[in-house]
Amino acid sequence: MTAARSPGSVPLVLGIETSCDETGVGIVAGNRLLADAVASSVSEHARFGGVVPEVASRAHLEALVPTVHRALADAGVQARHLDAVAVTAGPGLPGALMVGVAAAKAYALGLGVPLYGVNHLAAHVAVDTVAHGALPAPCVALLVSGGHSSLLLIADVTADIRPLGATVDDAAGEAFDKVARLLGLPFPGGPYVDAAARDGAADAIAFPRGKADDGTSDFSFSGLKTAVARWVEARHRAGEPVPMADVAASFQEAVVDVLTRKCMDACRRTGVDDLLIGGGVAANSRLRALAEQRCAQAGIRLRVPRPGLCTDNGAMVAVLGALVVAAGRAPSAPDLGADSGLPVTVPVVGAVAGAVA
Ligand code: KG4
Ligand code: ZN
Repeated sequence: MTAARSPGSVPLVLGIETSCDETGVGIVAGNRLLADAVASSVSEHARFGGVVPEVASRAHLEALVPTVHRALADAGVQARHLDAVAVTAGPGLPGALMVGVAAAKAYALGLGVPLYGVNHLAAHVAVDTVAHGALPAPCVALLVSGGHSSLLLIADVTADIRPLGATVDDAAGEAFDKVARLLGLPFPGGPYVDAAARDGAADAIAFPRGKADDGTSDFSFSGLKTAVARWVEARHRAGEPVPMADVAASFQEAVVDVLTRKCMDACRRTGVDDLLIGGGVAANSRLRALAEQRCAQAGIRLRVPRPGLCTDNGAMVAVLGALVVAAGRAPSAPDLGADSGLPVTVPVVGAVAGAVA
């Protein structure tokens, strides 16, 4: 690519994220975060108990340009100084992704800079570099969000991501959201369950730990969700009050116990001593505490971004974009499209690994 147009010598990259209900725009200079502007449509989905794709797409359309302007103002830079535009090309909601991709193409074309369509899941991992520096290679990454739960072996987040295992049914965040709904808590439920659990006993109810000891890096949360539903229903039938804090704490413990056990097993099996946890559920206070404790016991170095960088944001897309630029990967083709099912093994769309732009 051409020399950086930004005042310094590090490339200035704009990142656009619209895969779900957050319109995120981030700006980085190399691995330095300059802006992280997020407009969320979550309140518009709350009464439906889940994200409504059409509502999300419309909200992205309305929020995108103002959020780009806010990010530029926060970063104190002008659009003409940008060196590249990165955008989430997938996975995610098709209509929502299309809004971001179309906008990113327009900005890239208008500014005459390269466009990089990047993977949302890889971006959840890459964002940690702004907090803790370059990723150790290789590292094991646990990615836990509303739509995904996987364990990955990452040699290079821009080029070499290998799946070790994934959920066979619900994602961890989905389980939090469904259990929150059962307990009458608002959407998205993760943060509310996290808060409710603080006043409860994690060992009050022995909920099942699906696939915990099956020797794989796969997960299953649907049996746990059903067990919580049955337990709560039985209380209702008996006319007894539901001890919300105890249910929340016991459910949360079952999820984070399995997640952290699987992380330790994956590190042991691969012989890797560096673990990274990313995605919205990585904001969970108990997951962070238990992971810290178990990593310390096992001699594993743990990296988790601060909670605001775990949930969806534009900074993560800008960060992955900057890493891709720094690695000299070819930009995405101008006919870049949204790919709602983009596999985690494809960090950059339409780029030839190793090619120089
Ligand atoms: O990564 P993310 O923002 O969006 C997706 O890519 O899906 O993750 C959203 C998920 C939701 O299911 C939300 O309930 C969950 O992350 N989440 C949490 C917490 N904060 C967000 N789950 C548990 N504890 C939290 N503190
Ligand atoms: Zn996400």
